[in-house]
Amino acid sequence: MADKYFTYKGILFPRLDYSLEALSYVENEFQVQNDDVFNITYPKSGTNWMLEILSLIRSDGDPGWVRSVVNWDRAPWVELQTGLEAALKYPQPRLLCSHLPIQLFPKSLQRSKAKIIYTLRCPKDILVSLYHFSKLLHLFKDPGSLDSFLEDFLSGNVPYGSWFDHVTGWMGLKDNENFFSITYEELQQDPWGSVRRICHFLGKELSEEQVAAVVENASFQSMKGNKMSNFSQMPAEYMDHQKGELLRKGICGDWRNHLSEAQSQRFDTIYQKRMQGLGMTFPWD
Ligand code: A3P
Repeated sequence: MADKYFTYKGILFPRLDYSLEALSYVENEFQVQNDDVFNITYPKSGTNWMLEILSLIRSDGDPGWVRSVVNWDRAPWVELQTGLEAALKYPQPRLLCSHLPIQLFPKSLQRSKAKIIYTLRCPKDILVSLYHFSKLLHLFKDPGSLDSFLEDFLSGNVPYGSWFDHVTGWMGLKDNENFFSITYEELQQDPWGSVRRICHFLGKELSEEQVAAVVENASFQSMKGNKMSNFSQMPAEYMDHQKGELLRKGICGDWRNHLSEAQSQRFDTIYQKRMQGLGMTFPWD
């Protein structure tokens, strides 16, 4: 189990489809282009939902693209070996994904006007979502008990490292004009307003009908039924389809169904320690 991961600059990465060479190339040599759009998240924050929204905005709400091209080809993950190859061949303007913490992200971002969309989610819901997903995704090791996984999560002993570091790192860009952040909870509460805000950030104005088509085609039910978006095409080498699905529940606050009072309090104690003084409030606070 332990050798499912390797460490790059103090952060755990799965061995399957990741390598030191690719991570180092991405960090130091990958050239971010001014017209790139990056969908960036900590895992389980709603990455694939945002990917679907961005794909649909790109196609003016027309679902043809999201129904015919699998999501990881529409927006390759730059840090995966296969994703990096796809990203390097992708015609501009590129739509790309990444879970990398900011310190491992391509350095060339600093010199570019590429647009970053950073989606956050209640970390207790991320914990629960990641716990379930770790049981089916072969890239991740079996999470063990929820108690031990909670400690791994809180200490950053999980792929891509600490949620706290990820969020504080990326949110350090919050005043940059090419950085836009939104939460999973806002997407749930106001999908139309959220899509309009994303369009505005991208400099793309859609009609009301087109915005409605984006929301409809990126809904939980639409994505769950779309084999190009629901990971059902992912090879068995990567994912055990008998054990569960990417689109599991798609709700806010599912942590209440899983965490005990003691586990929740333990989380809150660390959360307060790590997030105090940041001057940011989130829908889950
Ligand atoms: P749950 O496991 O809580 O259901 P990621 O794409 O970052 O891996 O995140 C996956 C989580 O986003 C899963 O959460 C999944 O159900 C949820 N999700 C994916 N698409 C969604 C959608 N269209 N609407 C709401 N939630 C969605």
